[in-house]
Amino acid sequence: MTMQIKSWEAYQSAYRCSVADPEGFWAEQAKSFVWRKPWSKVLEWEFDTPRVQWFIDGKLNITENCLDRHLPQRAQQPAIIWEPNDPNAPNRVLTYGELYEAVNKTANALKANGIGKGDRVCFYMPMVPELAIGVLACARIGAVHSVVFAGFSAAALADRIKDAACKMVICSDFNNRGAKHIPVKAVVDEALQMGCDSVQTVLVHRNTGDDIAWMPARDKWWHEQVDSQPSECPAEVMDSEDMLFILYTSGSTGKPKGVVHTIGGYMVYTCFTFRNVFQYQEGDIYWCTADIGWITGHSYIVYGPLLAGATTMMFEGVPTWPDPGRFWQIVEKYKVNQFYTAPTAIRALMAHGDEWVEKYDLSSLKVIGSVGEPINEEAWRWYHDKVGRGKAPIVDTWWQTETGGIMISPIPGATDTKPCYASYPMPGIQPVLVDAAGNEIEGNDVEGLLCIKFPWPSILRTTYGDHARCKQTYFAPFPGKYFTGDGARRDAEGRYRIIGRVDDVINVSGHRIGTAEVENAINEHPLVVESAVVGFPHPIKGQGIYAFVIVQGQIADTAQFEQEVRQVVSRVIGPIAKPDYIHIAPGLPKTRSGKIMRRILRKIASGDTENLGDTSTLLNPEVVEALIASAKAAH
Ligand code: PRX
Repeated sequence: MTMQIKSWEAYQSAYRCSVADPEGFWAEQAKSFVWRKPWSKVLEWEFDTPRVQWFIDGKLNITENCLDRHLPQRAQQPAIIWEPNDPNAPNRVLTYGELYEAVNKTANALKANGIGKGDRVCFYMPMVPELAIGVLACARIGAVHSVVFAGFSAAALADRIKDAACKMVICSDFNNRGAKHIPVKAVVDEALQMGCDSVQTVLVHRNTGDDIAWMPARDKWWHEQVDSQPSECPAEVMDSEDMLFILYTSGSTGKPKGVVHTIGGYMVYTCFTFRNVFQYQEGDIYWCTADIGWITGHSYIVYGPLLAGATTMMFEGVPTWPDPGRFWQIVEKYKVNQFYTAPTAIRALMAHGDEWVEKYDLSSLKVIGSVGEPINEEAWRWYHDKVGRGKAPIVDTWWQTETGGIMISPIPGATDTKPCYASYPMPGIQPVLVDAAGNEIEGNDVEGLLCIKFPWPSILRTTYGDHARCKQTYFAPFPGKYFTGDGARRDAEGRYRIIGRVDDVINVSGHRIGTAEVENAINEHPLVVESAVVGFPHPIKGQGIYAFVIVQGQIADTAQFEQEVRQVVSRVIGPIAKPDYIHIAPGLPKTRSGKIMRRILRKIASGDTENLGDTSTLLNPEVVEALIASAKAAH
């Protein structure tokens, strides 16, 4: 088993060793996995191209490590516990033995439908066990999964299917989420009318049993394809650097990029961080509330826990349905030991009052985690006092889709916790702070742009189909370093606090949204001439979306117009990107070279207009006055 750090001394020694001899350190961790053929060299890298390879020439299959190797001891142990949306409906428990069989059958069904090594398979599904099974089935046969969060629109789904030229889409009929009953297959049907020529088959999992449209030449039922398959499917022997999955994420500019993770390094790093950050012990019940449509679900619902032989939970529903006690009722019901959620959920539940959390027995909780956005001190304290009963340490885990696994986080029992601090880097992670010119800021009690100066096993390898973009986004800004896009502070003892994005990415309820994407969507409205989108502080969501919109002529019915703009954004991206505020603006502050001064817009959107900073390059100061006046009306 991968090492587990249990003391401050052990952390310090592991960290020192990981920096002095990264290859030796990670080779030691990698040894505990099943490799069909050992690696010939641990690491080769240079950040200029970039080119990073871990466990070179090593051959393996990640599902043998998630499933097969656990069977002798764990065939009867629950691997996945699934809690349905409806608290009165039956749950589902899949033991390691049952999960093994389900994955193997599904892998055979994929093969029977022409899917093989290297083919891309898109998933557009609710949180049902079949999503985890399907993803692992891809990995079993060497196919590459691309999971698209089922809240994205048909247009956003189509973009992602086309970008990766997926051969198959796997979906459900409908999705139950809280009181909502959401069509899923219908969205896939719509997406596939948008020129997704690569798709040959749609495999449909029957979730709710509702009627759906059917194209006999293309659509197939999951159960008809899977149930009759043999329960053994030989694992494809993969190279350590073969692609495991693509996951799309937003950046400052353009369309979302397909972040590519490869097998060997991702496996070693997600298992290592899972075991250490959550201090998982034999028999524990671990629950991460994320959706598998995001990286957190990939790494810490599916791969990390299963690699570690853990029992991992999947929840179909939402935190506030049928009431705001739902999370805590589930913790009590299963005696959950490790609980991992997002600050936005904590703030939303906190707003409902303490009675919901006090109603349930949460004494089983040993570690409670936070991820996806900065956690404010009030939420941290409430989480600590009410949910953790003042005892369970909070692991505030900082990482990204691109990093594959947790980068900076407390290790319970080894390092301390401090409100709002992700604290110390994991072994193997070498963070640095730089100034805008790229100079390293040494010492403690300092602030700067967060970069990482040495590769770790699960660093992204490329952005699918566009390696130049990977270089330009992450490796060109500060040569020789990986740039995270975040600003951070290092305290007197060397702990890190993440301040937030320094680029045009906003973080709404832990969902990463590119402002350019939202602007492009808004601009599709026929009356919109130009728009500028910025984030503003939001009490529950962390950041909200504020859209400044310039329109053609006079808008007769503003409410109607705003509704139409929101609809356009919903159609192009999905409901998560709908603006909170739409400000019909007389103009946008621009520099003489025509660049929008977003810094000023951010100030106006947050109502912080006392000091606008340097406005000497501003071409049209009168617009700023007008915007401030009309923004007051909007607030
Ligand atoms: O700004 C940081 C924020 O989320 C961004 C990464 O988003 P995504 O790729 O969607 O992955 C989210 C889940 C890993 C980061 O650049 N972020 C993530 N975790 C934290 C955080 N900000 C502050 N504190 C965190 N713990």
